[in-house]
Amino acid sequence: MDHRAVGVFDSGLGGLTAVRELRRLLPSENIIYLGDTSRVPYGGKSEETLVRYSRQDLAFLRTKDVKAALIACGTATTAALPALQQENEIPVLGVVDAACRRALEVTDNHRIGLIATAASVRSGVYERTMRTMDGAVRTVSCACPLFVALVENGRYRRGDPVVELVAREYLEPMKATGVDTLILGCTHFPLLQDVIAEIMGPEVTLVNAGAEAARALADVLREKDLLAAGEGSLRLYASGDPAEFGQLAAPFLDEPLENPVEPAVLETE
Ligand code: DGL
Repeated sequence: MDHRAVGVFDSGLGGLTAVRELRRLLPSENIIYLGDTSRVPYGGKSEETLVRYSRQDLAFLRTKDVKAALIACGTATTAALPALQQENEIPVLGVVDAACRRALEVTDNHRIGLIATAASVRSGVYERTMRTMDGAVRTVSCACPLFVALVENGRYRRGDPVVELVAREYLEPMKATGVDTLILGCTHFPLLQDVIAEIMGPEVTLVNAGAEAARALADVLREKDLLAAGEGSLRLYASGDPAEFGQLAAPFLDEPLENPVEPAVLETE
């Protein structure tokens, strides 16, 4: 048993897709979440910058004495997971492995689509991970950077003509490739799940990278005897405007925020 908090970070709102699942699975956990909203989006940044930002994000969480950390960001995972795992003695998980494993479990035709940020797609990490797990898999990848901007501005609901237009442009060519499984490899994208599901159709299974990673983290906490007991809590930090982050986060989390979002000052040297 360990009552220290679990640390979770993302560039902004996207990692809350993992937090929502963690709260559902492990209501006793204390969760500390950092949204690096002063530097969002991560998806167009270089690998070197992403490693630096990720180190700073995790260093902030470690000042709160977290017992484990989840990089709830596809982009940061593809760039920085090995470095952060090597540099920290606590368990550090990313979102890629769990999402790939799930996609390979649910596919029938071994054609798996990936939508993610430009940096994640460029890295090739999702594709390599899947090929290591299953040599027969065929993958199709598409970067969807505008999705991040839409989500960060609270624009992700069905019926929003801008959202629908952007989603059709990205997803119709993906649908035409015949994939039967689509990894939402950027944690921002499950907020657009309804829109994406409508375009891809019922025959395509969507894999939510954040939620899959939350399940993997729950397994690790259980295996390592790190679970907490009692009533858990959620504390949110944002490196940008905390009030704005709170307004966007609350409807998505499906629970009233017990505490106001706090400002995060990151060590950027
Ligand atoms: N949510 C992040 C991801 O999973 C990053 C999106 C961004 O900041 O571009 O890739």
